[in-house]
Amino acid sequence: MITAVVPRHIKYSGKHSAQYPSGISQSALCLKRLFLDLDCAVSIPTAHRILQYGSKNRYKFDTRKTATNILYCTIFLLSNLKDGVGGRGSSSILKKRGKVMEKENCFLRAVKQRRTRYALTDKSPIGDDKIKEIIRVALAHAPSAFNSQSARLAVLFGKYHKKFWQITKDALRKIVSAENFADTEKKIDSFSAARGTILFFEDWGTVEGLQGKFPTYKDNFPLWAYQSNGMLEFIIWTAFAEVGLGASLQHYNPLVDEQVRREYGLPSSWKLIAQMPFGEPFAPPENKDFLPIDERVKVWE
Ligand SMILES: Cc1cc2nc3c(=O)[nH]c(=O)nc-3n(C[C@H](O)[C@H](O)[C@H](O)COP(=O)(O)O)c2cc1C
Repeated sequence: MITAVVPRHIKYSGKHSAQYPSGISQSALCLKRLFLDLDCAVSIPTAHRILQYGSKNRYKFDTRKTATNILYCTIFLLSNLKDGVGGRGSSSILKKRGKVMEKENCFLRAVKQRRTRYALTDKSPIGDDKIKEIIRVALAHAPSAFNSQSARLAVLFGKYHKKFWQITKDALRKIVSAENFADTEKKIDSFSAARGTILFFEDWGTVEGLQGKFPTYKDNFPLWAYQSNGMLEFIIWTAFAEVGLGASLQHYNPLVDEQVRREYGLPSSWKLIAQMPFGEPFAPPENKDFLPIDERVKVWE
């Protein structure tokens, strides 16, 4: 069980929930219940303070949306506060009480929450600055072979994002039959309707440099570059899910590589690996089947 403590400098305007607009009270109650599900205790005033802090920072708490959305926002908010993003005095946010709530559990919860989300709007539960911050943290901390840090990203918003999907649509028009193109166009338009797109690259110059430096592992470096890029994709995808931002993973490379390089003036060593449109989801994810897990893992102990 942990107790969430909000920094003192974040004031709330009264002691009784009745003094708050009913929307906020409902949200606070909702938060309290959600925290209980997470084995976390927050008082109603604390929940109010979290909500007020959230709204000051343009986080969207909305009881009409799924409870899970609120949970995502709150976890993100708390982790931000814990990391000092909340400003002065924010270091004392999470106080452990009794048995430690394993961080792994929070992580695995986020892992379970991440899903492929195709139905996206151009809205976002967090500001673009926060989106960029998530991307920067993920890029800095994602592991890479020999710490080569070979991943590169192009983060596209607004007209730059729309342009990428226009390039993709035009390229597909040349190779998809006219009778099938309506479906293709619908799909591409759905990506274009999102808030933005991340283009994932690997710097092939770095990969080849490593091959020259460590000939023993020559054949492994390209594979490791892809693996490392996949980890980065996963970190961002999962961190997005945690704040209520949906995303999917697309692969229109190598079809669009040359034009993307030209359009955004990217170095020729940047090899396009994947594309991730992201935005606020407006429909639940598709159902997902799971193979029996015991057929996939064998344990000796
Ligand atoms: C390496 C990899 C490649 C993928 N490529 C695509 C893709 O090109 N288009 C797409 O819509 N989804 C793609 N996906 C998403 C998978 O279809 C999806 O992760 C899978 O069906 C499980 O669903 P979930 O993401 O909701 O857990 C890819 C996923 C991985 C890991």
